[in-house]
Amino acid sequence: MALARLVYVSTARPGLDPVELEEMLAAARARNGALSITGLLVYNGVNFMQALEGPGDAVSAVYDSIARDPRHTGPVAVLEENVETRAFPGWSMAYAVLPDQEGAADALRVPPERVASLLPVTAGAELALLFTSFNTMSAV
Ligand SMILES: Cc1cc2nc3c(=O)[nH]c(=O)nc-3n(C[C@H](O)[C@H](O)[C@H](O)COP(=O)(O)O)c2cc1C
Repeated sequence: MALARLVYVSTARPGLDPVELEEMLAAARARNGALSITGLLVYNGVNFMQALEGPGDAVSAVYDSIARDPRHTGPVAVLEENVETRAFPGWSMAYAVLPDQEGAADALRVPPERVASLLPVTAGAELALLFTSFNTMSAV
């Protein structure tokens, strides 16, 4: 079966409550499981980067929902491709709140080696580069 992968970045609504986010994730994982979607969501306290993969129709439907969600703004798809195999098999939506995201603004910058260690070995170089770049961006 043809699989699609989509990676986007967006900006969290200011003041987004981490508890609200965790509750949203529980519902998201249930929906992703039902639709056979897997992926990874990284939140650095300012921006999100999320990879969604699964059947093409399901990825499009879930991304449409996500793009309308008022908990973040300005979603931009940075990678859209058809793939043979999943990079995140078994992750109905892994979630990484990067260390030190609370507190001083300079703490938003996360050493790339920490992010790379979050990725499964199946993720491949391109995805690893995207997520690593995301985490070296300065979140001002
Ligand atoms: C950053 C972020 C990531 C999300 N990821 C997912 C996800 O992986 N799967 C999902 O079903 N919903 C996810 N959601 C929630 C959706 O935006 C939406 O609320 C949910 O799918 C219900 O869709 P509906 O309002 O169209 O019924 C996410 C929301 C945000 C803000």
